[in-house]
Amino acid sequence: MKNFTYVNSTKIIFGKDTESLIGEEIKSFGGKKVLFHYGGGSIKKTGLYDRIIKSLAENQIDYVELGGVQPNPRLSLVRTGIELCKLHDIDFILAVGGGSVIDSAKAIGIGAVYEGDVWDFFTGNATIESTLPVGVVLTIPAAGSEASTGTVITNEDGWYKWSVNSVLIRPKFAILNPELTYTLPDYQTVCGASDMIAHVFERYFTNESGVDFTDELCEATIRSIMRCVKMVLKDPTNYDARANLMWEGTLAHNGILGTGRIEDWASHKIEHELSAIYDIAHGAGLAIIFPHWMEYVYKHDIYRFARFAHRIFNVDVDFFNLEATVLEGIKRLKNFYKEIGLPTKLKDVNIGSEHFEEMAKKATINGPIGSFVKLNTEDVFNIFKLALE
Ligand code: NZQ
Ligand code: ZN
Repeated sequence: MKNFTYVNSTKIIFGKDTESLIGEEIKSFGGKKVLFHYGGGSIKKTGLYDRIIKSLAENQIDYVELGGVQPNPRLSLVRTGIELCKLHDIDFILAVGGGSVIDSAKAIGIGAVYEGDVWDFFTGNATIESTLPVGVVLTIPAAGSEASTGTVITNEDGWYKWSVNSVLIRPKFAILNPELTYTLPDYQTVCGASDMIAHVFERYFTNESGVDFTDELCEATIRSIMRCVKMVLKDPTNYDARANLMWEGTLAHNGILGTGRIEDWASHKIEHELSAIYDIAHGAGLAIIFPHWMEYVYKHDIYRFARFAHRIFNVDVDFFNLEATVLEGIKRLKNFYKEIGLPTKLKDVNIGSEHFEEMAKKATINGPIGSFVKLNTEDVFNIFKLALE
Protein backbone atom coordinates (compact mmCIF):
# COMPACT_ATOMS: atom_id res chain seq x y z
CA MET A 1 0.00 0.00 0.00
CA LYS A 2 1.27 3.47 -0.93
CA ASN A 3 1.70 6.26 1.62
CA PHE A 4 -1.16 8.74 1.44
CA THR A 5 -2.65 11.87 2.95
CA TYR A 6 -6.41 12.05 2.82
CA VAL A 7 -8.46 15.13 3.57
CA ASN A 8 -12.00 15.66 2.35
CA SER A 9 -13.29 18.92 3.62
CA THR A 10 -16.69 18.87 1.88
CA LYS A 11 -19.47 18.98 4.46
CA ILE A 12 -22.18 16.51 3.45
CA ILE A 13 -25.76 17.29 4.44
CA PHE A 14 -27.84 14.26 3.56
CA GLY A 15 -31.55 13.49 3.62
CA LYS A 16 -35.11 14.63 3.10
CA ASP A 17 -35.90 18.36 2.86
CA THR A 18 -32.25 19.32 3.41
CA GLU A 19 -32.34 21.85 0.55
CA SER A 20 -34.30 24.15 2.87
CA LEU A 21 -31.00 24.65 4.74
CA ILE A 22 -29.31 26.25 1.74
CA GLY A 23 -29.53 29.87 2.91
CA GLU A 24 -28.23 29.08 6.39
CA GLU A 25 -25.34 27.03 5.02
CA ILE A 26 -24.22 29.71 2.59
CA LYS A 27 -24.37 32.24 5.40
CA SER A 28 -22.27 30.02 7.65
CA PHE A 29 -19.56 30.00 4.97
CA GLY A 30 -19.65 33.78 4.73
CA GLY A 31 -21.66 34.08 1.50
CA LYS A 32 -23.54 37.35 1.11
CA LYS A 33 -23.76 37.78 -2.64
CA VAL A 34 -24.19 34.55 -4.56
CA LEU A 35 -23.96 33.43 -8.17
CA PHE A 36 -26.89 30.98 -8.45
CA HIS A 37 -25.81 28.57 -11.18
CA TYR A 38 -28.03 25.87 -12.70
CA GLY A 39 -28.72 23.85 -15.85
CA GLY A 40 -31.32 23.64 -18.56
CA GLY A 41 -34.41 24.09 -16.43
CA SER A 42 -35.23 20.80 -14.64
CA ILE A 43 -35.02 22.65 -11.31
CA LYS A 44 -37.75 25.05 -12.42
CA LYS A 45 -40.06 22.19 -13.43
CA THR A 46 -39.61 20.41 -10.11
CA GLY A 47 -40.12 23.48 -7.95
CA LEU A 48 -36.62 23.27 -6.48
CA TYR A 49 -35.75 26.67 -7.96
CA ASP A 50 -38.54 28.35 -5.96
CA ARG A 51 -37.50 26.65 -2.71
CA ILE A 52 -33.90 27.82 -3.19
CA ILE A 53 -34.95 31.42 -3.86
CA LYS A 54 -37.14 31.33 -0.76
CA SER A 55 -34.32 30.11 1.47
CA LEU A 56 -31.92 32.72 0.06
CA ALA A 57 -34.47 35.47 0.72
CA GLU A 58 -35.16 34.24 4.26
CA ASN A 59 -31.46 34.55 4.98
CA GLN A 60 -31.08 37.99 3.34
CA ILE A 61 -28.72 36.59 0.69
CA ASP A 62 -28.48 38.59 -2.48
CA TYR A 63 -28.02 36.64 -5.73
CA VAL A 64 -27.30 36.89 -9.44
CA GLU A 65 -28.61 34.07 -11.62
CA LEU A 66 -26.86 32.13 -14.36
CA GLY A 67 -28.75 29.15 -15.77
CA GLY A 68 -28.24 27.28 -19.02
CA VAL A 69 -25.39 24.90 -18.19
CA GLN A 70 -25.44 22.13 -20.79
CA PRO A 71 -24.38 18.54 -20.12
CA ASN A 72 -20.65 18.46 -20.99
CA PRO A 73 -20.39 22.07 -19.75
CA ARG A 74 -18.95 24.67 -22.07
CA LEU A 75 -16.09 27.11 -21.57
CA SER A 76 -18.06 30.02 -23.05
CA LEU A 77 -20.64 29.91 -20.24
CA VAL A 78 -17.84 29.61 -17.68
CA ARG A 79 -16.39 32.83 -19.08
CA THR A 80 -19.80 34.53 -18.80
CA GLY A 81 -20.01 33.40 -15.16
CA ILE A 82 -16.55 34.79 -14.41
CA GLU A 83 -17.54 38.18 -15.86
CA LEU A 84 -20.71 38.20 -13.74
CA CYS A 85 -18.73 37.38 -10.58
CA LYS A 86 -16.29 40.21 -11.24
CA LEU A 87 -19.00 42.67 -12.19
CA HIS A 88 -21.22 41.99 -9.15
CA ASP A 89 -18.55 41.30 -6.50
CA ILE A 90 -19.85 37.78 -6.00
CA ASP A 91 -18.42 36.05 -2.91
CA PHE A 92 -20.01 32.57 -3.16
CA ILE A 93 -21.14 30.26 -5.98
CA LEU A 94 -24.18 28.04 -5.54
CA ALA A 95 -24.42 25.12 -7.98
CA VAL A 96 -27.82 23.42 -8.18
CA GLY A 97 -27.76 20.43 -10.49
CA GLY A 98 -25.44 17.62 -11.53
CA GLY A 99 -21.79 17.24 -12.44
CA SER A 100 -22.06 19.65 -15.35
CA VAL A 101 -23.40 22.52 -13.22
CA ILE A 102 -20.95 21.80 -10.39
CA ASP A 103 -17.98 21.62 -12.76
CA SER A 104 -19.02 24.87 -14.42
CA ALA A 105 -19.32 26.48 -10.96
CA LYS A 106 -15.87 25.22 -9.93
CA ALA A 107 -14.33 26.63 -13.11
CA ILE A 108 -16.06 29.97 -12.59
CA GLY A 109 -14.75 29.95 -9.01
CA ILE A 110 -11.10 29.65 -10.05
CA GLY A 111 -11.49 32.02 -12.98
CA ALA A 112 -13.14 34.75 -10.92
CA VAL A 113 -10.06 35.22 -8.73
CA TYR A 114 -7.53 34.98 -11.59
CA GLU A 115 -6.34 37.77 -13.85
CA GLY A 116 -5.64 35.62 -16.93
CA ASP A 117 -7.88 33.29 -18.96
CA VAL A 118 -9.43 30.40 -17.01
CA TRP A 119 -8.46 27.87 -19.72
CA ASP A 120 -4.83 28.35 -18.54
CA PHE A 121 -5.64 26.06 -15.59
CA PHE A 122 -6.79 23.29 -17.93
CA THR A 123 -3.76 23.52 -20.21
CA GLY A 124 -1.36 23.52 -17.26
CA ASN A 125 -0.22 27.08 -17.90
CA ALA A 126 -1.48 28.20 -14.48
CA THR A 127 -1.85 26.48 -11.09
CA ILE A 128 -4.91 26.84 -8.90
CA GLU A 129 -4.02 28.94 -5.87
CA SER A 130 -7.44 30.09 -4.75
CA THR A 131 -11.12 30.07 -5.64
CA LEU A 132 -14.42 31.55 -4.69
CA PRO A 133 -16.17 29.07 -2.38
CA VAL A 134 -18.68 26.75 -4.05
CA GLY A 135 -21.71 25.08 -2.42
CA VAL A 136 -23.87 22.39 -4.03
CA VAL A 137 -27.42 21.10 -4.10
CA LEU A 138 -27.10 17.82 -6.00
CA THR A 139 -29.93 16.65 -8.25
CA ILE A 140 -28.34 13.61 -9.96
CA PRO A 141 -26.00 11.05 -8.46
CA ALA A 142 -23.32 10.39 -11.07
CA ALA A 143 -20.15 12.43 -11.50
CA GLY A 144 -19.25 12.71 -7.82
CA SER A 145 -18.18 16.30 -8.44
CA GLU A 146 -20.02 17.35 -5.26
CA ALA A 147 -17.04 16.14 -3.20
CA SER A 148 -14.30 15.66 -5.79
CA THR A 149 -11.17 17.63 -6.59
CA GLY A 150 -11.91 17.91 -10.31
CA THR A 151 -13.72 19.97 -12.88
CA VAL A 152 -14.14 18.94 -16.52
CA ILE A 153 -14.90 21.60 -19.12
CA THR A 154 -15.35 21.50 -22.89
CA ASN A 155 -13.62 24.19 -24.93
CA GLU A 156 -15.78 24.65 -28.03
CA ASP A 157 -12.76 26.03 -29.86
CA GLY A 158 -11.43 22.65 -31.04
CA TRP A 159 -13.78 20.54 -28.83
CA TYR A 160 -11.23 19.79 -26.14
CA LYS A 161 -12.80 18.29 -23.00
CA TRP A 162 -10.16 18.69 -20.34
CA SER A 163 -9.99 18.56 -16.58
CA VAL A 164 -8.05 20.19 -13.78
CA ASN A 165 -7.72 18.94 -10.22
CA SER A 166 -6.98 20.60 -6.91
CA VAL A 167 -8.08 19.98 -3.33
CA LEU A 168 -8.85 23.69 -3.23
CA ILE A 169 -11.87 23.26 -5.48
CA ARG A 170 -13.72 20.69 -3.42
CA PRO A 171 -17.10 22.26 -2.64
CA LYS A 172 -17.52 23.68 0.87
CA PHE A 173 -20.72 21.72 1.33
CA ALA A 174 -23.01 19.45 -0.64
CA ILE A 175 -26.70 19.01 0.09
CA LEU A 176 -27.87 15.55 -0.95
CA ASN A 177 -31.61 14.97 -0.82
CA PRO A 178 -32.42 11.65 -2.56
CA GLU A 179 -36.01 12.79 -3.16
CA LEU A 180 -34.70 15.40 -5.61
CA THR A 181 -33.62 12.53 -7.88
CA TYR A 182 -37.14 11.02 -8.25
CA THR A 183 -37.71 13.11 -11.39
CA LEU A 184 -34.65 11.80 -13.25
CA PRO A 185 -35.40 10.16 -16.59
CA ASP A 186 -34.32 6.48 -16.50
CA TYR A 187 -31.57 7.15 -19.03
CA GLN A 188 -29.96 9.78 -16.78
CA THR A 189 -30.23 7.45 -13.79
CA VAL A 190 -28.44 4.62 -15.59
CA CYS A 191 -25.80 6.92 -17.09
CA GLY A 192 -25.15 8.10 -13.54
CA ALA A 193 -24.76 4.54 -12.29
CA SER A 194 -22.35 3.74 -15.10
CA ASP A 195 -20.21 6.77 -14.21
CA MET A 196 -20.09 5.73 -10.54
CA ILE A 197 -19.09 2.17 -11.45
CA ALA A 198 -16.37 3.59 -13.73
CA HIS A 199 -15.04 5.76 -10.90
CA VAL A 200 -14.58 2.62 -8.84
CA PHE A 201 -12.99 0.66 -11.70
CA GLU A 202 -10.47 3.45 -12.30
CA ARG A 203 -9.24 2.81 -8.75
CA TYR A 204 -9.79 -0.95 -8.61
CA PHE A 205 -7.50 -1.76 -11.54
CA THR A 206 -4.17 -0.90 -9.95
CA ASN A 207 -0.71 -2.41 -9.89
CA GLU A 208 -0.46 -1.73 -6.18
CA SER A 209 -0.48 -4.83 -3.95
CA GLY A 210 -1.50 -5.12 -0.30
CA VAL A 211 -4.67 -3.08 -0.72
CA ASP A 212 -7.21 -5.75 0.12
CA PHE A 213 -9.32 -3.47 2.30
CA THR A 214 -9.95 -0.93 -0.46
CA ASP A 215 -10.29 -3.78 -3.00
CA GLU A 216 -13.20 -5.10 -0.95
CA LEU A 217 -14.71 -1.64 -0.52
CA CYS A 218 -14.58 -1.22 -4.30
CA GLU A 219 -16.23 -4.59 -4.93
CA ALA A 220 -19.00 -3.92 -2.40
CA THR A 221 -19.62 -0.45 -3.83
CA ILE A 222 -20.05 -1.75 -7.38
CA ARG A 223 -22.32 -4.62 -6.30
CA SER A 224 -24.47 -2.20 -4.34
CA ILE A 225 -24.70 0.32 -7.21
CA MET A 226 -25.82 -2.51 -9.52
CA ARG A 227 -28.48 -3.63 -7.04
CA CYS A 228 -29.78 -0.12 -6.31
CA VAL A 229 -30.03 1.01 -9.90
CA LYS A 230 -32.22 -1.97 -10.74
CA MET A 231 -34.48 -1.22 -7.76
CA VAL A 232 -34.75 2.42 -8.81
CA LEU A 233 -35.68 1.49 -12.39
CA LYS A 234 -38.51 -0.65 -11.03
CA ASP A 235 -39.66 1.96 -8.54
CA PRO A 236 -38.27 5.49 -9.13
CA THR A 237 -39.61 6.75 -5.79
CA ASN A 238 -38.04 4.02 -3.65
CA TYR A 239 -36.38 6.35 -1.13
CA ASP A 240 -33.85 3.92 0.28
CA ALA A 241 -32.69 2.75 -3.13
CA ARG A 242 -32.36 6.37 -4.32
CA ALA A 243 -30.58 7.27 -1.06
CA ASN A 244 -28.07 4.44 -1.28
CA LEU A 245 -27.39 5.23 -4.92
CA MET A 246 -26.79 8.88 -4.10
CA TRP A 247 -24.36 8.15 -1.30
CA GLU A 248 -22.55 5.57 -3.45
CA GLY A 249 -22.06 8.24 -6.13
CA THR A 250 -20.28 10.48 -3.66
CA LEU A 251 -18.15 7.74 -2.12
CA ALA A 252 -17.19 6.35 -5.53
CA HIS A 253 -15.37 9.57 -6.30
CA ASN A 254 -14.51 11.43 -3.09
CA GLY A 255 -11.09 9.79 -3.02
CA ILE A 256 -11.60 7.28 -0.21
CA LEU A 257 -11.59 4.22 -2.51
CA GLY A 258 -8.29 5.30 -4.05
CA THR A 259 -6.39 5.64 -0.78
CA GLY A 260 -3.06 3.78 -0.85
CA ARG A 261 -3.48 2.89 -4.51
CA ILE A 262 -2.28 4.22 -7.87
CA GLU A 263 -5.35 5.01 -9.96
CA ASP A 264 -5.68 4.48 -13.71
CA TRP A 265 -8.06 6.95 -15.50
CA ALA A 266 -7.25 5.93 -19.09
CA SER A 267 -10.88 4.98 -19.81
CA HIS A 268 -12.08 8.37 -18.61
CA LYS A 269 -9.60 10.16 -20.86
CA ILE A 270 -10.73 8.03 -23.79
CA GLU A 271 -14.40 8.67 -23.02
CA HIS A 272 -13.91 12.42 -22.72
CA GLU A 273 -12.90 12.44 -26.39
CA LEU A 274 -16.25 10.85 -27.27
CA SER A 275 -18.38 13.23 -25.22
CA ALA A 276 -16.31 16.21 -26.44
CA ILE A 277 -16.94 15.52 -30.12
CA TYR A 278 -20.29 13.70 -30.07
CA ASP A 279 -21.85 15.31 -26.97
CA ILE A 280 -23.07 11.95 -25.63
CA ALA A 281 -23.70 11.42 -21.90
CA HIS A 282 -20.43 10.68 -20.09
CA GLY A 283 -21.89 7.57 -18.40
CA ALA A 284 -23.05 6.17 -21.74
CA GLY A 285 -19.59 6.67 -23.21
CA LEU A 286 -18.03 4.88 -20.26
CA ALA A 287 -20.37 1.88 -20.65
CA ILE A 288 -19.02 1.58 -24.20
CA ILE A 289 -15.33 2.16 -23.44
CA PHE A 290 -14.74 0.33 -20.15
CA PRO A 291 -15.50 -3.27 -21.21
CA HIS A 292 -13.37 -2.80 -24.33
CA TRP A 293 -10.51 -1.31 -22.32
CA MET A 294 -10.77 -4.45 -20.18
CA GLU A 295 -10.59 -6.73 -23.21
CA TYR A 296 -7.52 -4.83 -24.35
CA VAL A 297 -5.56 -4.91 -21.07
CA TYR A 298 -6.70 -7.93 -19.01
CA LYS A 299 -3.63 -10.04 -19.82
CA HIS A 300 -1.52 -7.52 -17.92
CA ASP A 301 -2.89 -8.93 -14.63
CA ILE A 302 -5.16 -11.86 -15.23
CA TYR A 303 -5.46 -12.60 -11.50
CA ARG A 304 -6.92 -9.17 -10.75
CA PHE A 305 -9.39 -9.58 -13.59
CA ALA A 306 -10.35 -13.07 -12.43
CA ARG A 307 -10.99 -11.56 -8.99
CA PHE A 308 -13.15 -8.86 -10.62
CA ALA A 309 -15.18 -11.55 -12.45
CA HIS A 310 -15.61 -13.66 -9.33
CA ARG A 311 -16.20 -11.04 -6.63
CA ILE A 312 -18.38 -8.65 -8.62
CA PHE A 313 -20.12 -10.95 -11.10
CA ASN A 314 -20.10 -14.27 -9.21
CA VAL A 315 -18.26 -16.07 -12.03
CA ASP A 316 -16.95 -19.46 -10.85
CA VAL A 317 -13.18 -19.33 -11.14
CA ASP A 318 -11.78 -21.85 -13.61
CA PHE A 319 -8.24 -22.24 -12.31
CA PHE A 320 -7.22 -24.09 -15.46
CA ASN A 321 -8.60 -21.38 -17.70
CA LEU A 322 -8.48 -17.99 -16.01
CA GLU A 323 -8.92 -16.30 -19.36
CA ALA A 324 -12.37 -17.86 -19.73
CA THR A 325 -13.24 -16.63 -16.21
CA VAL A 326 -12.18 -13.09 -17.09
CA LEU A 327 -14.01 -13.03 -20.41
CA GLU A 328 -17.18 -14.28 -18.73
CA GLY A 329 -16.86 -11.41 -16.19
CA ILE A 330 -16.52 -8.83 -18.96
CA LYS A 331 -19.49 -10.39 -20.77
CA ARG A 332 -21.63 -10.13 -17.61
CA LEU A 333 -20.61 -6.46 -17.22
CA LYS A 334 -21.77 -5.76 -20.79
CA ASN A 335 -24.99 -7.69 -20.16
CA PHE A 336 -25.66 -5.64 -17.04
CA TYR A 337 -25.23 -2.41 -19.00
CA LYS A 338 -27.57 -3.69 -21.73
CA GLU A 339 -30.13 -4.86 -19.19
CA ILE A 340 -30.42 -1.39 -17.64
CA GLY A 341 -30.61 0.32 -21.04
CA LEU A 342 -27.06 1.51 -21.70
CA PRO A 343 -25.19 1.26 -24.98
CA THR A 344 -22.15 -1.05 -25.08
CA LYS A 345 -20.90 -0.38 -28.63
CA LEU A 346 -20.19 2.81 -30.55
CA LYS A 347 -22.65 1.58 -33.16
CA ASP A 348 -25.42 1.75 -30.52
CA VAL A 349 -24.99 5.56 -30.37
CA ASN A 350 -24.42 5.95 -34.13
CA ILE A 351 -20.71 6.68 -33.86
CA GLY A 352 -18.50 5.43 -36.68
CA SER A 353 -14.76 5.33 -37.13
CA GLU A 354 -14.39 8.75 -38.81
CA HIS A 355 -12.78 10.51 -35.82
CA PHE A 356 -10.83 7.59 -34.30
CA GLU A 357 -7.44 8.94 -35.32
CA GLU A 358 -8.18 12.47 -34.16
CA MET A 359 -9.62 11.29 -30.82
CA ALA A 360 -6.72 8.89 -30.19
CA LYS A 361 -4.22 11.70 -30.83
CA LYS A 362 -6.08 14.14 -28.61
CA ALA A 363 -6.39 11.61 -25.76
CA THR A 364 -2.62 11.12 -25.74
CA ILE A 365 -1.62 14.69 -26.54
CA ASN A 366 0.48 14.87 -23.35
CA GLY A 367 1.94 11.37 -23.74
CA PRO A 368 0.74 7.86 -22.80
CA ILE A 369 -2.35 7.62 -20.56
CA GLY A 370 -3.29 5.28 -17.70
CA SER A 371 -1.11 3.64 -15.09
CA PHE A 372 -2.39 0.05 -14.78
CA VAL A 373 -1.31 -0.28 -18.41
CA LYS A 374 0.19 2.72 -20.18
CA LEU A 375 -1.57 3.35 -23.49
CA ASN A 376 -0.15 5.23 -26.45
CA THR A 377 -2.01 6.71 -29.41
CA GLU A 378 -2.12 3.40 -31.26
CA ASP A 379 -3.51 1.58 -28.21
CA VAL A 380 -6.31 4.14 -27.84
CA PHE A 381 -7.07 3.80 -31.55
CA ASN A 382 -7.26 0.01 -31.10
CA ILE A 383 -9.66 0.35 -28.16
CA PHE A 384 -11.95 2.55 -30.26
CA LYS A 385 -11.80 -0.14 -32.95
CA LEU A 386 -12.72 -2.87 -30.47
CA ALA A 387 -15.65 -0.73 -29.26
CA LEU A 388 -17.05 -0.10 -32.74
CA GLU A 389 -19.48 -3.02 -33.09
O1 NZQ B 1 -29.87 20.73 -17.16
P1 NZQ B 1 -31.09 20.20 -16.49
O2 NZQ B 1 -32.36 20.71 -17.06
O3 NZQ B 1 -31.02 20.36 -14.99
O4 NZQ B 1 -31.13 18.62 -16.80
C1 NZQ B 1 -30.11 17.72 -16.42
C2 NZQ B 1 -29.23 17.28 -17.58
O5 NZQ B 1 -29.92 17.32 -18.79
C3 NZQ B 1 -30.74 16.41 -15.99
N1 NZQ B 1 -31.10 16.41 -14.57
C4 NZQ B 1 -30.29 16.57 -13.52
N2 NZQ B 1 -30.96 16.42 -12.38
C5 NZQ B 1 -32.25 16.15 -12.71
C6 NZQ B 1 -32.35 16.16 -14.12
N3 NZQ B 1 -33.51 15.92 -14.77
C7 NZQ B 1 -34.60 15.67 -14.00
N4 NZQ B 1 -34.56 15.64 -12.65
C8 NZQ B 1 -33.42 15.86 -11.97
N5 NZQ B 1 -33.39 15.78 -10.64
O6 NZQ B 1 -29.71 15.44 -16.18
C9 NZQ B 1 -28.93 15.82 -17.31
C10 NZQ B 1 -27.48 15.49 -17.04
O7 NZQ B 1 -26.93 16.36 -16.07
P2 NZQ B 1 -25.34 16.43 -15.90
O8 NZQ B 1 -25.05 17.42 -14.82
O9 NZQ B 1 -24.67 16.61 -17.21
O10 NZQ B 1 -24.99 14.94 -15.38
P3 NZQ B 1 -23.78 14.36 -14.59
O11 NZQ B 1 -23.93 14.59 -13.14
O12 NZQ B 1 -23.63 12.98 -15.07
O13 NZQ B 1 -22.49 15.22 -15.04
C11 NZQ B 1 -21.77 14.89 -16.19
C12 NZQ B 1 -20.55 15.78 -16.33
O14 NZQ B 1 -19.65 15.59 -15.22
C13 NZQ B 1 -18.32 15.31 -15.74
C14 NZQ B 1 -18.64 14.57 -17.00
O15 NZQ B 1 -17.53 14.50 -17.87
C15 NZQ B 1 -19.77 15.41 -17.58
O16 NZQ B 1 -19.28 16.55 -18.24
N6 NZQ B 1 -17.53 14.61 -14.72
C16 NZQ B 1 -17.08 15.34 -13.67
C17 NZQ B 1 -16.27 14.78 -12.71
C18 NZQ B 1 -15.75 15.59 -11.57
N7 NZQ B 1 -15.87 16.89 -11.63
O17 NZQ B 1 -15.20 15.07 -10.60
C19 NZQ B 1 -15.85 13.38 -12.76
C20 NZQ B 1 -16.58 12.57 -13.75
O18 NZQ B 1 -15.76 11.50 -14.14
C21 NZQ B 1 -17.05 13.26 -14.96
O19 NZQ B 1 -16.03 13.34 -15.94
ZN1 ZN C 1 -16.74 9.89 -14.65
